[in-house]
Amino acid sequence: MSHFSYELLHRDAETGARRGVFSTPHGTVQTPGFMPVGTQGTVKGVTIDQVAATGAEMILGNTYHLALRPGHETVRRLGGLHGMTLWEGPILTDSGGFQIFSLESIREINEQQATFRSHIDGSIVQLTPEHSIEIQESLGSDVAMVLDHVVALPAKRSEVVDAMERSIRWAARCLNAATRDDQARFAIVQGGLDAELRIQCASELSSMNFEGFAVGGLSVGEAPSEMYRITAATCPHLPEHKPRYLMGVGRPIDLLESVARGIDLFDCVMPTRNGRNAMAFTDRGNVKIRNAKYREETRPLEDHCPCLACRHSLGYLRHLFVAKEMLGPILLTIHNLTYYQRVMSEARQAIENNTFAQYVIDKKAGWGIVDE
Ligand code: GUN
Ligand code: ZN
Repeated sequence: MSHFSYELLHRDAETGARRGVFSTPHGTVQTPGFMPVGTQGTVKGVTIDQVAATGAEMILGNTYHLALRPGHETVRRLGGLHGMTLWEGPILTDSGGFQIFSLESIREINEQQATFRSHIDGSIVQLTPEHSIEIQESLGSDVAMVLDHVVALPAKRSEVVDAMERSIRWAARCLNAATRDDQARFAIVQGGLDAELRIQCASELSSMNFEGFAVGGLSVGEAPSEMYRITAATCPHLPEHKPRYLMGVGRPIDLLESVARGIDLFDCVMPTRNGRNAMAFTDRGNVKIRNAKYREETRPLEDHCPCLACRHSLGYLRHLFVAKEMLGPILLTIHNLTYYQRVMSEARQAIENNTFAQYVIDKKAGWGIVDE
């Protein structure tokens, strides 16, 4: 029997939104769902209990970062990501494909492997699809992502085609290299901003034996409308009874617009990174905590938010940032993660009630988003 399943509970009557449950050996994930990012085996600034208290059910780790430091063998000897972090729920690890692109450290990418320079000590690192899977098996994540070839946009069509075709071949190599049945493999659809290429890629990957499918190569500087267009074109060509994951996305509005187009899972550094940088997500839009107008604000950031940050006054939160106290970034990280989880929880409820379209309209009004 498979350790993994995706149960589609309900489809929204008006939009493409889906309500489901993804089951893994470490528990279930209600979808649509948001996964906090823990690149180096920690969701920056917060304890694992604090992450769980936000309502998060699944977190991320990263192959590239953990393979360089402390090394995947070391992680394995320390009990894997679960043993190291004490996170008891599901964990997904990204493959390293995106770092090869994002760290601009690439020296060469050929059919066999990507060769790049460590951002830590400058040494040469080689990553093949097989090695990426071997590392992720050592990390012990519930879901391993395939190694993919992400291109910077805009790019020549021939480059986008080459990267997409290579990503399909590498996805097949990842499947062949896998040895664990307690770890799922998710494929990643590439193809730039070309809907035809995306459909071709989605169709080819769908014929392979993956437990889930990601849409990659987006949120790399293109307009939000372009990202929505590609997501809408891709989702209908993915298996209906497998989870769909939009990688590295995004703002709360991006999550809702993508859910409406058929996406089930998200991850993004935005709630944690922006929280550390004194920016809060709220139902009335983004709040810059350092603003002098909050100096003596006795009310919390959000009246109805159950998080620890919102038990304090907004004036106190501002003071913590102005005084450069570490509690400021910690509290705003907790608030933002709680906020993202609340939006996903409300979205799940709205889908069940067949009121998702109206829910998105109401949310946009609160955020002050007129036309996007
Ligand atoms: N994170 C955000 N986008 C991507 C992508 O296209 N590929 C991978 N591997 N990770 C991502
Ligand atoms: Zn809060």
